[in-house]
Amino acid sequence: MSHFESIASQLAMDRKGHTLPRALYVSEEAFQFDVEVMLKSVWLYACTGAHVKKPGDYFIFEVANNSIIIVRGRDMEVRAFWNSCRHRGAKICLEQKGSSPRLMCPYHQWTYGLDGKLLAARSMADDFAKADHGLHPVALENIGGLIFICMSDNPPPIDRVKADISEQIAVYDVEKLKVVVQDDYIEDANWKLVMENNRECYHCDVGHPELISVLGTYGFGKGLPEDGDADIVDDSSYDALVAAKREEWKALGIDRDLIEFPDGWWHRVARLALANGAVTQSIDGKLACQKLIGPFKEPETSSLSVWTQPNSWHHFCCDHVVTFSLTPVSADKTLLRTSWLVHEDAVEGVDYDPDHITALWRATNVQDGHFSMINHQGINNDGYVPGPYAVEEKLVEDFKDFYVAAARSALKELR
Ligand code: FES
Ligand code: FE
Repeated sequence: MSHFESIASQLAMDRKGHTLPRALYVSEEAFQFDVEVMLKSVWLYACTGAHVKKPGDYFIFEVANNSIIIVRGRDMEVRAFWNSCRHRGAKICLEQKGSSPRLMCPYHQWTYGLDGKLLAARSMADDFAKADHGLHPVALENIGGLIFICMSDNPPPIDRVKADISEQIAVYDVEKLKVVVQDDYIEDANWKLVMENNRECYHCDVGHPELISVLGTYGFGKGLPEDGDADIVDDSSYDALVAAKREEWKALGIDRDLIEFPDGWWHRVARLALANGAVTQSIDGKLACQKLIGPFKEPETSSLSVWTQPNSWHHFCCDHVVTFSLTPVSADKTLLRTSWLVHEDAVEGVDYDPDHITALWRATNVQDGHFSMINHQGINNDGYVPGPYAVEEKLVEDFKDFYVAAARSALKELR
């Protein structure tokens, strides 16, 4: 019996249009499978290029026991390396982020360049080859300033994701922005439930009074003009709003059709019309930063959203960008990392107030944390049986189907 035999049988019980079998959400074995196998077989969103803005800036991205250094080189390239010294294996970078002209292991001070090359190692034998002991690289793709990594030696294709996302977010010039707040928030739920929660707005009317006052509930799978579901839900007023807005978007050069997980790919990109005259995703719908970004000279009543499987979502407003990454910490704990980015010349207290810019998504994150927690608690209950997704939970099902397919193919590779 292979190590993950029961995962295979749990996956075999998956029912179309229904939530997963209990053990895949709550068991220790499923957590080990996810972090040791499934999540190592896919691309994961880690951070933005603005998190490592200058040469020497590094950012540590961790999934359970695996720690990866993402670092900007002197040539301005962003690279990723395993955070494990080539001497006797100690962890090199111990802080979550920082800046250093070189990467020095704290144990015996082996010192690496920002390109991973070993520069100095004291009292090694004469035949020791420094060139053979550089840091081991991890696959990295910089998609218009969104940094994705893959822990596999044989990463899956990313070209279409790269083309589609970078084409649309290029105007926001993410690498030029600066990160002004990063929140690391632990949710008491399995990471897949936190993802499922993100992929629907079925809970928004009741669960997110602040969010729906600026974002509405459409556009999250409940219906966009292109998705053909218009007859299923009453989104005619939203359709009319978007149709009118698209003329303005054309003039700005930002009008695009919805991209929704095409042909088994793992990205969705949509421009959403904001609600109630909001010009950004802030608690009161008013500008969160006075210095606008992207092509915008005037406040704009829409935002661009990007969702990727299996661990990220991002919103691009006319005045700031907010990005989210998920990483599992244990079977029932998930790190939700939220970062807010503004124009690099914006001044705190003059152009933006950190409490104002963060208020909407901080409130929403706490509300979602509660929903994910009670979802986990209820599934961790002998009475649980997989339940049916609603029509407007299509994107939840897309996530679940992605998980099941990726898990099956990663299991097959193990054999
Ligand atoms: Fe890094 Fe010894 S383990 S220098
Ligand atoms: Fe929510």
